[in-house]
Amino acid sequence: MSASRHETGPAVDPERSLRVLLVASECAPYAKCGGLGDVVASLPEALRGLGVDARIMLPLYSSISKKAYGLTEEAPCLVQCGGGEQNGCGVWGGTTAGGVPVWFIEHNRYFARSGIYDHFGAEYGDNAFRFGLLCMAAAQVCRDRQWIPDVVHVHDWPTAIFPALLDAWRVAGEPLGRAGSVLTIHNQSYQGYYHPSVLGYLGLGPEYFTQDRLEAWGKINLLKGGIVMADAVTTVSPTYAKEVLGEPGGNGLSDYLQARGRDFEGILNGADYGEWNPEKDPWIPANYREGDLDGKRLCKMELQAQMGLNADAEAPLFGIVTRLTAQKGTGLMREVLPRMLNEKSMQLVALGSGEHADEDFFRWLAQAYPGRVGVTIGYSNELAHRIQAGADFFLMPSLFEPCGLAQMYSLRYATLPVVNATGGLDDTIEAYDAKTGAGTGFKFYEPDGEAFFAALALAVDTWEARPHHIAGMRGRAMRVRFDWADSARRYVEVYRRVALKRA
Ligand code: ADP
Ligand code: GLC
Repeated sequence: MSASRHETGPAVDPERSLRVLLVASECAPYAKCGGLGDVVASLPEALRGLGVDARIMLPLYSSISKKAYGLTEEAPCLVQCGGGEQNGCGVWGGTTAGGVPVWFIEHNRYFARSGIYDHFGAEYGDNAFRFGLLCMAAAQVCRDRQWIPDVVHVHDWPTAIFPALLDAWRVAGEPLGRAGSVLTIHNQSYQGYYHPSVLGYLGLGPEYFTQDRLEAWGKINLLKGGIVMADAVTTVSPTYAKEVLGEPGGNGLSDYLQARGRDFEGILNGADYGEWNPEKDPWIPANYREGDLDGKRLCKMELQAQMGLNADAEAPLFGIVTRLTAQKGTGLMREVLPRMLNEKSMQLVALGSGEHADEDFFRWLAQAYPGRVGVTIGYSNELAHRIQAGADFFLMPSLFEPCGLAQMYSLRYATLPVVNATGGLDDTIEAYDAKTGAGTGFKFYEPDGEAFFAALALAVDTWEARPHHIAGMRGRAMRVRFDWADSARRYVEVYRRVALKRA
């Protein structure tokens, strides 16, 4: 493309809606482990609200019920892999509750499994092949339907190989090679190190197995490949964007991100207030709104009853809903929660699953503090809503947090977050000021036990001694909005830039 093309005006026809294909391993409610699933569901809905033809491509995991979601079978596709291998895939079509078209790729060998990435903690060894095939099939579905996206938007390591595939198709003169690519990093600590044989499987030659592309320590690093090869790279909050540009936040990839210059930026996620709204939430025992928290008091009583806690309206009730993994500050929780329970008249409910040692700790905590700690090990969207509504405070002492959605939801439910000031937690929570009563939550600034303890103790003290401050913070918290339309507008700017570059 000549430079003058830029000067004479946009090559993307503003009359034709931009076509964006989101390719991902998760999308709520079909398949979700954490916030990635929420984002992949909400962003395209907001994009369509702005006139973008956004669509989603997902694997058809066996946990996704075709019947429950009303999926319809479409013409299958034949994926031509490297070395002459052909893979026939079923294609199923559906529409999200928010009106976004979704294509599901059916491939029994790779996707007819109960887990998304692992089987009860044991990672599937062929993940690079599974998600690589998803990318290849996504491309084939587009070709077959002659729906060529302007931009392919991929998410985290599972689909980060897509920009390299686009590059190869561009070199081969394929129409799909005209698509631009955007990689969003939701978590830089998962990078996807795999045996290089996956490159051959995907038809990528040895020119992609170089240090300035996918190679890393004799293996391939999928996230690194995406960072280097995507037309633009984003992450999910401005502060995390700064953190990953250095070490240790960059997990060894900071140099590659720095090299992207202005092609890398942080765009804060939005929150889905259709799903997370105490005024309308169908999962909670009573609805409530700002200025009238009677329903919240009822939600607390019901939560105490459900989780086996003493009925006590006065005790400050702390809630946890999380993947149980080191990122989420489980080490800090182990260190500090028993001391808090010994010294303060607090109650705690926790919902989570993950590392076995963390699960064991929470089971132990419930046994050690009967009537004051209630724990459910597992995954339950309904209970997540009930905890957001019934708790007084929400704990997120994450060691790092690219964005964090759960604290955004807790603000909306007047459940004041206690957070480590890192990444998106720092961007979204305003620290309490004991003099003025300002703020929307309690923050600590060093990921150590003393600082976490002090923040928790301040929350309890404020609850007991300054209830008017709590009431003020709750009102303020409930009014905060992280609007997806604002974030989607920022993505559209990125897409337009990328599409122009490729036009
Ligand atoms: P992350 O994506 O790192 O897990 P986020 O705060 O961005 O963190 O998103 C977490 C999402 O996953 C929220 O929607 C939260 O309610 C949900 N979640 C996490 N653990 C559970 C669980 N055990 N049961 C139900 N929902 C969960
Ligand atoms: C990741 C991050 C989390 C973020 C979510 C959605 O799972 O850990 O902080 O909110 O992705 O972007």
